[in-house]
Amino acid sequence: MKIAVTGKGGVGKSTIAAALCKNFFAKGYRVLAVDADPDANLALALGMDADAASRLTPISKLKSLVQERTGSQPGVYGGVFKMNPRVDDIPEKYAVDFNGIRVLVMGSVDAGGSGCVCPEHVLLKRLTSHLVLKEDDIVVMDMEAGIEHLGRGTAGSVNAFITVVEPGERSIQTFARVKKLASDLGVERVYVIGNKINDSDDEAFILKHVGEENCLGFIYYDKAISLSDRENTSSYEASRTLKNSIDIIADKIISMVKN
Ligand SMILES: Nc1ncnc2c1ncn2[C@@H]1O[C@H](COP(=O)(O)OP(=O)(O)O)[C@@H](O)[C@H]1O
Ligand SMILES: [Mg+2]
Repeated sequence: MKIAVTGKGGVGKSTIAAALCKNFFAKGYRVLAVDADPDANLALALGMDADAASRLTPISKLKSLVQERTGSQPGVYGGVFKMNPRVDDIPEKYAVDFNGIRVLVMGSVDAGGSGCVCPEHVLLKRLTSHLVLKEDDIVVMDMEAGIEHLGRGTAGSVNAFITVVEPGERSIQTFARVKKLASDLGVERVYVIGNKINDSDDEAFILKHVGEENCLGFIYYDKAISLSDRENTSSYEASRTLKNSIDIIADKIISMVKN
């Protein structure tokens, strides 16, 4: 099962991706948590302490790895390098276990202008497609809203594309954009989780804009979640609201994928 969590910055992607990881793990699945957001904070959301999280080196920053696999110098544009670097051993070698959940940080690529193809980019793209197509564990990817780099074949094999939205116009716009990008990649359905909900008006606002059939559920605003961020602890453990809602949403995803 492969799940991609997207959405506007600050909407709750990492909180929700981490909660899904913990819930699947509690249900007995092996889980690989992939931080594919350049603004990486999934490890923290899982409850890893800041020191340990800062020691997780993103794959794109492992210069010797990028060099060894692509045959090129990172950061050098226009050079000759392999377009099909070996990646199959990377999850096993570079994912770090945290309380039973494996965590892999992809890192960002400083692209020199649009359409840039650099070795780090090629390696990340190939690694992503390997994770989606070949990895046996449940893979939960915490992503930014730009999903173009997934590529057609890879995107088509993601079982659930989830956009997290808040009850506000801006994150709904992001949903519309993700839906369009996904459709360009051959993905018909983008699911929504409504987050930071305060009341039934908020729920109705989201349902009206995204369509009831696309909504996996709602997570209410809970002070315990934002406090856990401040204290750098796992919000899944801190918030009953989050735990209960995610439990139902995770079951929905599992049954969706089985059918
Ligand atoms: N349902 C919620 N209730 C209260 N605070 C929330 C909720 N969901 C997320 N937050 C808080 O919002 C902030 C952004 O969440 P985060 O998961 O880091 O967003 P993203 O990964 O999309 O940038 C964090 O401080 C988090 O604790
Ligand atoms: Mg995040």
